[in-house]
Amino acid sequence: MQQIRQIVDSEFAAVNEFIIAQLHSNVPLVENIGHYIVDAGGKRLRPLLTLLCAGAIGKIEQQHVKLAAVIEFIHTATLLHDDVVDISALRRGRPTANANWGNAPSVLVGDFLYSRAFQILVEISSLPLMGLLSGTTNTVAEGEVLQLSRAGNADTSETTYFDVIRCKTAVLFGAACEGAAIISNADQHQTALYDYGLNLGIAFQLIDDILDYEGDPDETGKNVGDDLAEGKPTLPLIYVLQHGNEQQQQLVRDAISNKTAEHLNAIVDAVTTTGALAYCRSAAERYTNLALAALTPFEPSPYRDALEKLTTIALSRRS
Ligand code: IPE
Ligand code: IPE
Ligand code: MG
Ligand code: MG
Repeated sequence: MQQIRQIVDSEFAAVNEFIIAQLHSNVPLVENIGHYIVDAGGKRLRPLLTLLCAGAIGKIEQQHVKLAAVIEFIHTATLLHDDVVDISALRRGRPTANANWGNAPSVLVGDFLYSRAFQILVEISSLPLMGLLSGTTNTVAEGEVLQLSRAGNADTSETTYFDVIRCKTAVLFGAACEGAAIISNADQHQTALYDYGLNLGIAFQLIDDILDYEGDPDETGKNVGDDLAEGKPTLPLIYVLQHGNEQQQQLVRDAISNKTAEHLNAIVDAVTTTGALAYCRSAAERYTNLALAALTPFEPSPYRDALEKLTTIALSRRS
């Protein structure tokens, strides 16, 4: 990741500076919570995608830097809201904003970040880009609600699971990439970059859902078992419900229905021994292969190389 960031070193630094500057508010609590989550870092993967896609097309411009910040603001807003909804206690290696300040300030500062993102978009002043990002933000919200409506429901299908992760996560990856082409007036590259981002995003969320069972909180900065505690029927569990023995199926069915991580260890054992995690990993690999295939129209360049490498990193990531 570090090596990849170096390819867009100065632009990446400019994005981070711009993000900090745009956190400004006259209300101290907004700035406090905004800085709390932003200063904790995060991988800044989505802004990195915007910059690399811009590079792969041709030239990285100031508007790309702004777009990268917009994407990170939208992402950060979803995290503030998501941690409230998921009742999560740890994010980016720190107590979540909701753990520190409570739900209400987290939701409201999330709103601040969403709306700040759209203020910056107005400055960029591209109607197609506004169309893309308003649609994307809307879809992310739908994805979170769809997921919520399936929580506690052990009869959720694989198809619904993929709908959820496409909406809540992957479309923002797609927009981070396609948006770069819109700014560059490279209409011919829009679809390919969207496809790259969308498929990478699906793989990214598949791995996230694996890490919810076998991740190390010191590396992910998040607790394990959060999905289980919320009764989220993610792919590892759906697989056990289809392929586990009777006892494993009952264990998972009860955990989802009762929304409890009480038997986390036994369930980690089940998702491992049934091959559920391996199944999720191979699904993720299929999607990174689709992402890779989408890059074929691009001329060889360090940017394209980096986009290719990110597909491998997405699969092997521990954080
Ligand atoms: C977390 O995204 C939310 C998901 C879509 C899984 P990241 O893993 O990119 O979070 P940060 O920004 O690096 O903290
Ligand atoms: C991430 O969903 C998607 C959004 C934040 C919109 P998760 O709930 O799986 O993400 P983490 O695991 O909390 O980061
Ligand atoms: Mg969550
Ligand atoms: Mg998760």
